[in-house]
Amino acid sequence: MDVVTEAAELDQMRSEGDPGVCHLEVGQPSGTAPESVLEAAREALGSPIVYTDSLGRTDLCRKISRSYGLRHGLDLNPERIAVTTGASAGCVLAFLAVFDPGDRLGVVEPGYPCYANVARSLGIETVRVSVDEEHGYQPTRETLDAAGPLDGLIVASPSNPTGTVLSATELETIHEWCQGNDCFLLVDEIYHGTSDITEPTAADLADTIVIQSFSKYFCMTGWRIGWLVLPEQFRRPIQMLAQNLYLCPPSISQSAALGAFDATEELDQRAAVYRTNRNILTTALVNAGVHRIAPASGAFYIWADLGHVGNSNDTAKALLNDVRVACTPGGDFDSRTGDRHIRFSIAGSTGEITEAASRLSSWLP
Ligand SMILES: Cc1ncc(COP(=O)(O)O)c(C=O)c1O
Repeated sequence: MDVVTEAAELDQMRSEGDPGVCHLEVGQPSGTAPESVLEAAREALGSPIVYTDSLGRTDLCRKISRSYGLRHGLDLNPERIAVTTGASAGCVLAFLAVFDPGDRLGVVEPGYPCYANVARSLGIETVRVSVDEEHGYQPTRETLDAAGPLDGLIVASPSNPTGTVLSATELETIHEWCQGNDCFLLVDEIYHGTSDITEPTAADLADTIVIQSFSKYFCMTGWRIGWLVLPEQFRRPIQMLAQNLYLCPPSISQSAALGAFDATEELDQRAAVYRTNRNILTTALVNAGVHRIAPASGAFYIWADLGHVGNSNDTAKALLNDVRVACTPGGDFDSRTGDRHIRFSIAGSTGEITEAASRLSSWLP
């Protein structure tokens, strides 16, 4: 967030001849929500915008459950869907419903830092599950055994910051480990739809909560809308928590999200751009001698080891000041090797990523 602020300041102070900042720091698609979403929102403005059920509108829950039928061939009961104020609120609700203070939650490193921050703020103890390049930056039976007894585990596939995706077998192995070790599994699938393959879902796994969102694939970050797929016994506790915490997810965004599933063709084309962008930047980095890059096949990030250049905080600052490329230093994602790593977001336009690639190539030693 400090990089975001600094990059925005540089943009504001931009003088004539200044090439401007290439924004590779934030994980958000650059375009607007699809037209079908905007149209649904415009239509909703003609009626009162009022509270809905705290678990969201029934018609939206039905549309979401139907999407699992279309994409994964699953027949999900719509009552298992809870619409939330983004995956962020989904995470808080799930942690509150599943864990007690003092419980041990396994969080993958490198991984999305908010899981551990949120868990700790709720009195949940976090246990680092260190993952490595050799195993595609995802946990294995061995890494989970090494983490020790866990009451819960949260994994993301595709992962932020590494972009790696769990195969169906790997997901099943993690689930089996959790079932055999009395450990509740949560799977963050917020980047589903961004890979070249259909990412396997955990929505049909027993005793598992799936965290999802309209933010990424659907390009709706600021609408603050997402969902959970819940085991049936969690419906009532989550409903009561949502009711007390924020009454309901934003009503206008729920109406807008009703249009989201009509835009899959357009959204799949946008996802294809992430893959083009990933190739452009990866090629530039490799040609500039950066060889340790996570084998991403989803999300819109490149997790690269730039340890030979220096500490990642200093590298990110220098990249911004010297060549106006904003990126994220790795420390927040990984306490072990984050000071060597930089996360580049490739969610922007291909023009912006091509320009960033050229600036990086000229800057790297
Ligand atoms: C892995 C992961 N989970 C959850 C979130 C939160 O997303 P939302 O906008 O739905 O709250 C993010 C946001 O970047 C993320 O990267």
